[in-house]
Amino acid sequence: MDLRKIQETEERYYANTFSRLPVAITRGEGMYVYDVEDRRYLDMFAGIAVDSLGHSHPEVVSTIRKQSGLLMHTSNWYYTLPQLRLAQLLVKLTGLEKAFITNDGTEAVETAIKLARKATGKKEIIAMKNAFHGRTLGALSLTWGEKYRKPFMPLLPGIKFAEYNDVDALREKITGETAAVIVEPIQGEAGVIIPDDGYLEEVREITVEKNILLILDEVQTGFGRTGEMFAFQHSGIKPDIICLAKGMGGGFPIGATVFDCGDFKPGEHGGTFIGNPLACEVANTVINVIVRERLAENASRMGDYLLNELKKRGMGARGRGLMVGVEVEDGKRTVLDLIEKGVLTIYSGNTLRILPPLIIERKHVDEFLTAFDSLKH
Ligand SMILES: Cc1ncc(COP(=O)(O)O)c(C=O)c1O
Repeated sequence: MDLRKIQETEERYYANTFSRLPVAITRGEGMYVYDVEDRRYLDMFAGIAVDSLGHSHPEVVSTIRKQSGLLMHTSNWYYTLPQLRLAQLLVKLTGLEKAFITNDGTEAVETAIKLARKATGKKEIIAMKNAFHGRTLGALSLTWGEKYRKPFMPLLPGIKFAEYNDVDALREKITGETAAVIVEPIQGEAGVIIPDDGYLEEVREITVEKNILLILDEVQTGFGRTGEMFAFQHSGIKPDIICLAKGMGGGFPIGATVFDCGDFKPGEHGGTFIGNPLACEVANTVINVIVRERLAENASRMGDYLLNELKKRGMGARGRGLMVGVEVEDGKRTVLDLIEKGVLTIYSGNTLRILPPLIIERKHVDEFLTAFDSLKH
């Protein structure tokens, strides 16, 4: 099927939820993906910070083959070992107490909302302006932006928004009914917005002082992306709840909420596919490869190199590790022009977002820069 036919078929049969870019991808290998005409593209966005080990990583493929041959699903009526191994790994890596596995990032946020309400008995949650936490009604209530929210009102009561990177604004919103504050260590969907040094530490101090929970949404920043295993580790603080997903499964749908604020009782939370053994075993493999191959360090090195090269070119660029945003005149136009040059990226407004697989090497960064330089800025 050619691209035009694919577009017509989608228009007829699929919900009108996605503004797609004009490429239909059929396969991938390492840092590259291929379209229906077998044209090759350098993947500089990793399926929105998801394909942390690139495409078709041999250990991931082998785990999927092995685990799907052993056991793919059995529900949570019974114990399964991959789920248990994953919970132990997440607790060890984060330093928190317990883990709950989810199917994606939005569910990780939903879990955090329920935990915060249950632990504190309070309903108010303070989120940040321009935040993105997902699109189900609970997570949507914490997401900023009329375009996401307006058609679906009313959302959860008791949600307030404070200016990001402004601790005084946060202080003003706190009341005796505040259960938690939820923050992205770097705002991703808003266009790679990095707070000042010391911001997270101050948010932690305020939340401790006021006896409210700190939820960090590391769905996009987690698992090596910013140069540490988790972005909060740049600051030395310890949150009460962490939401995870994206890079955790290397492309297999999975997320988690790791927490240190009490626990649920049986029946209070769950789901049929939650902690599915295949998804969990893939995540175990992906996380172990990230640790063993020191991919967070690679993210730091390659991210610094990319950022410096962009700055040398006089671009307004910012980032931490492999989470980089570049100010361009027209975000969509730049992404479309890069597609023509055989490079895939994404955009938020007029910020070009670069989120490549953590396995990226210098030669791939150079390949991206060559394509970028050849555009008319
Ligand atoms: C910070 C953050 N939280 C939550 C989500 C929602 O995650 P998912 O799309 O896996 O449900 C996203 C997705 O972009 C995100 O960036």
